[in-house]
Amino acid sequence: MKLADNKATLSFSNGSPSIELPVYQGSIGPDVIDIRKLYGQSGMFTYDPGFLSTASCQSAITYIDGDKGELLYRGYPIEQLATKCDYLDTCYLLLKGELPNATERDDFHKLVLKHTMVHEQMQFFLRGFRRDAHPMAVLTGLIGALSAFYHDSTDINNPQHREIAAIRLISKLPTLVAMAYKYGVGQPFMYPRNELSYAGNFLHMMFGTPCEDYKVNPVLEKALDRIFILHADHEQNASTSTVRLCGSSGTNPFAAIAAGVACLWGPAHGGANEACLNMLEDIQRNGGIAKVGEFMEQVKDKNSGVKLMGFGHRVYKNYDPRAKLMQETCNEVLAELGLEKDPLFALAKQVEKIALEDDYFVQRKLYPNVDFYSGIVQRAIGIPVSLFTGIFALARTVGWIAQLNEMLADPEYKIGRPRQLFTGSPRRDVP
Ligand code: ACO
Repeated sequence: MKLADNKATLSFSNGSPSIELPVYQGSIGPDVIDIRKLYGQSGMFTYDPGFLSTASCQSAITYIDGDKGELLYRGYPIEQLATKCDYLDTCYLLLKGELPNATERDDFHKLVLKHTMVHEQMQFFLRGFRRDAHPMAVLTGLIGALSAFYHDSTDINNPQHREIAAIRLISKLPTLVAMAYKYGVGQPFMYPRNELSYAGNFLHMMFGTPCEDYKVNPVLEKALDRIFILHADHEQNASTSTVRLCGSSGTNPFAAIAAGVACLWGPAHGGANEACLNMLEDIQRNGGIAKVGEFMEQVKDKNSGVKLMGFGHRVYKNYDPRAKLMQETCNEVLAELGLEKDPLFALAKQVEKIALEDDYFVQRKLYPNVDFYSGIVQRAIGIPVSLFTGIFALARTVGWIAQLNEMLADPEYKIGRPRQLFTGSPRRDVP
């Protein structure tokens, strides 16, 4: 970390001596005030529930400029990665810091595609779930269970072991997500086919059956690969921070990733794509485009409890760059499948148009986020709504493990242990 030229001074109105705090500069983005010694010097904590102004770590992986609507993985704009690279190149970049050269690319692709199988025992574990269990509940369990298979062989203090855990996770997540899907629909699990691409293999495991050959549609394969790239990392969001916090105790990395999956499930985070599609389907059932205006009035009414899902973001106060790329993919997929007149897509466009012109949304800087269009793409591909967040988890696994490994390699890392402002009863005696 680089010290800035200036310092921050904290003064108190009660006459206590003021405190000087060091300021650090990143390579881009806001500086940070280092408050680590504040408690020792003043006996006070800072208060920031929701981390509105708190940097929880230093990181060199992903940078977001929310006002510009810019997303960089290791410095590269998401638009360039989405058009010039594939998901596994992106994984390599996130994990290692640089894009691979031709040999590194070939080796990395082979490595990831060689480890796609999961232990045969996993399917017996999976069979313990109800068939109608939510895929995110199943995935939380399955990924947590991986720790049982790789516990003794995973020493988090060994960088090589950390790298092996990362490859295992990236390789096996598509297999586990597809197994969760097949189990729910009562079809046999499809073993991975390592000669296919990462996205192509996932489509094969999802939609192939032992009864006939499955031909991967290249347009859908590319669309899915793009969904994976766009969701690969997003700096210190709720699930990534969960993975870091969980991993900070030195736990098994597969268990830490399972914690991230559990966090992602919520509708304010990864569950928004599912909630967004359910919302569009609800509007469609209740009258479609003609009723959009009425629905938007409900959204603006604070007492209704209705939110426009797929809109708004803690960091982006401009168009989410991923939403633009996703809208482009949406057009390609719908055209390929002859669904250009898809009523839900038309409805989504109408909702977006109204919101972008409405004062309520303009004033609050609420724009579509990545989830607004990703649900429509996934639905067109044939992915059931309840699996949308599972696809997100699959794609985000590389970001989680890259961030976890970055933290474990950081000599400054400590177990995460927030403090509190206590507002309960002071000590009292039981009568
Ligand atoms: N619909 C209607 N109003 C909204 C929405 C929305 N989607 N999002 C924010 N607002 C309003 C809030 O009510 C608030 O209004 P107020 O100032 O009058 O009280 C204002 O905009 C600011 O919103 P906050 O809730 O303070 O913003 P915060 O940063 O805490 O929340 C969040 C961000 C959780 C993403 C929120 O915008 C939301 O719930 N959106 C819908 C869910 C969603 O799409 N989540 C996906 C996020 S992206 C991802 O995880 C990949």
